Amino acid sequence: MPQVLNIKVKVPHRSYDIKIGGNILADFPHQLKQLVEGRQIIIVSNSIIYGYHGQQVKEGLIEHGFDVVTYLVPDGEEYKTWQEAEKILTTLLEAGFNRDAVIAALGGGVIGDLAGFVASIYQRGIDLVQLPTTLLAQVDSSVGGKVAVNHPLGKNMIGAFHQPLGVWTDLRALNTLPEREWTAGLAEVVKYGVIWDEDFFDYLEKNVQNIKNRDLAVVREVIGRSCQIKAEIVGQDEKEQGIRAVLNFGHTIGHALEKVTEYKVYRHGEAVAIGMVCAAKVAVYLELCSVQIVERLESLLKKLGLPVEMPNVSSDLILGSLYLDKKVKKKELVLILPRRIGQVEIIRGITPQTIKDCIDRP
Ligand SMILES: NC(=O)c1ccc[n+]([C@@H]2O[C@H](COP(=O)([O-])OP(=O)(O)OC[C@H]3O[C@@H](n4cnc5c(N)ncnc54)[C@H](O)[C@@H]3O)[C@@H](O)[C@H]2O)c1
Ligand SMILES: [Zn+2]
Repeated sequence: MPQVLNIKVKVPHRSYDIKIGGNILADFPHQLKQLVEGRQIIIVSNSIIYGYHGQQVKEGLIEHGFDVVTYLVPDGEEYKTWQEAEKILTTLLEAGFNRDAVIAALGGGVIGDLAGFVASIYQRGIDLVQLPTTLLAQVDSSVGGKVAVNHPLGKNMIGAFHQPLGVWTDLRALNTLPEREWTAGLAEVVKYGVIWDEDFFDYLEKNVQNIKNRDLAVVREVIGRSCQIKAEIVGQDEKEQGIRAVLNFGHTIGHALEKVTEYKVYRHGEAVAIGMVCAAKVAVYLELCSVQIVERLESLLKKLGLPVEMPNVSSDLILGSLYLDKKVKKKELVLILPRRIGQVEIIRGITPQTIKDCIDRP
């Protein structure tokens, strides 16, 4: 297997590369120089991530002739806000950044979404590069161009589509990632197997131990294949008018669970793991797939260290949240449900009673 994987994302009017390898952040400054005219760059990160990986990026960029400004956001989802975005915009203006400046997002999904959002609006849009440092960001949020900040009335409610100039995915950056964040990211990986690629799901089943040991070659394969699948889906439907919705498998119920537990109990991926199992149970209930699908999915998620059981929260609370979700159009619940491993379908008109029966069933 090559040391560096290169995956192309092709969306209308634009294509870019995701480079995945063991020491990618070291190559990034040189490669960026080949791609952009301007020399102004801002690294947006937080102090934890910057403490581990920032200096290397900053020094590399300076060596390659860039004028580097750094902006550190406090750590946490609660800072993915318009207020933080405005502070970054002020920093850009004060530093005299013009339209050929670049924003580099060095961090997880919070930093990627926030910095990406700023890139989408500063002077009507400037170049963004993603340097993802969590597994979730490497397999999901850095790919596909969705950028956003949260509003007190809803997550990701203020946002845009803004594709990056490129994504540099450094596998070594994951060495400092806490175990729980690593495991949470694996839920999105499993999701790709279920929605798109049974062979990939088989591969995950066979490599559980290597994945848990973070074996470099296996991790590269896992992240590479995940990015390929996301790139393929986004390439077919950049703005989520159709097929891109399959990426929401496990997310509708997962989001409802995150919300009713006030974002305090579960990491996003953990809630998605529970949401995927619940969606698979709904599929069995509606006779769309066999019970073996639920068993296979549950078994893989459990082996990877993810939760699969709906906790003891009232199903009425989940239902309340579900039927208020932005994805519930005209009170009609739409779920992505598996037909088999590797194939899902968009199913409309799911009734509250169906969900209730599936959640309440032991
Ligand atoms: N744009 C999209 O398509 C998309 C897709 C999925 C999720 N998201 C968004 O992503 C966000 C979640 O992202 P996340 O799970 O990466 O969380 P995160 O960005 O909060 O990172 C998780 C934690 O890990 C720390 N961290 C990051 N990299 C590290 C490293 N290499 N070493 C040590 N610590 C590190 C962070 O400081 C943070 O405490 C949510 O806001 C979600 O809405 C966006
Ligand atoms: Zn997700």
